[in-house]
Amino acid sequence: MPPIDAFQLSDAAAQKYQAHSVPAMFGPLAEATVRRLNLPANGQLLDVACGTGALTRVLLEHLPGKGRVVGADLNQTMIEVARSLATPTDHDLEWSTADVTNLPFGDQSFDLACLQQGLQFFPDKPAALAEIYRVLKSGGSLCLTCWRAISPFNDALAQALARHVGESAAKKARAPFSFRDGDLITSLLQDAGFSVVEHDAITLQRRFEDLRAQILALPIESDIRQKGEGATEHVINDVSDFLLPYAQDGVFVVPQEAHFFVATRP
Ligand SMILES: C[S@@+](CC[C@H](N)C(=O)[O-])C[C@H]1O[C@@H](n2cnc3c(N)ncnc32)[C@H](O)[C@@H]1O
Repeated sequence: MPPIDAFQLSDAAAQKYQAHSVPAMFGPLAEATVRRLNLPANGQLLDVACGTGALTRVLLEHLPGKGRVVGADLNQTMIEVARSLATPTDHDLEWSTADVTNLPFGDQSFDLACLQQGLQFFPDKPAALAEIYRVLKSGGSLCLTCWRAISPFNDALAQALARHVGESAAKKARAPFSFRDGDLITSLLQDAGFSVVEHDAITLQRRFEDLRAQILALPIESDIRQKGEGATEHVINDVSDFLLPYAQDGVFVVPQEAHFFVATRP
């Protein structure tokens, strides 16, 4: 298990994530995900790697009856933003700063665990899935989403960064899309003891109304800034040129595809 401070985001990074990435991607993905689930009335739900709570909030809104919803994430800063956004609810709501490989919950505690866009970042994926399996009740389910293809935006961004900033910044832009093989995810789930009962795709149409602001809100902004003002303009111009085929009425509308898995603990 990595130490809890091995991967800590700054307060500013957590705020930017919530202000830009959640409305652009993680909020719409959470809505699309929960629309496909039958949430168990009065259920005990866990959102693993919950970030700033994009999916946790949608689960709270749609869970019937009076249940318990827990959001857990390695980053204290993400949990603090999530906590600050919580509104009154009939459900018991808890936030936990925890590594996925060492969740502070008893065996068989939850009816449903969700993992939205977290698996690709876990260094020890088998240990992470084994730990989620441990905290699920027998008959409980894991709902997992993970990007299925590199989005044209991130592809364009990675190419522009490689050209004008450096390969290490380009690698960061590709990192969220680094684990895309659905067969491999299926095998990992099965090896952890899960039965995969659903594997489908969700395609979001991501809108870029202000490409500059959306690029400069990303963690790679500091890499671009270190290269100087010229680099910022070069990167934005290159990405804009690459995305021209996706222009619609002055806005870029770019597809972004995710795997959607439901796997049960027998
Ligand atoms: C792309 S974000 C997704 C967050 C959230 N699920 C959402 O949809 O907005 C990935 C999250 O994984 C968390 N994370 C990375 N490694 C983790 C670990 N070992 N244990 C728990 N959370 C982890 C990060 O802190 C980050 O909040």
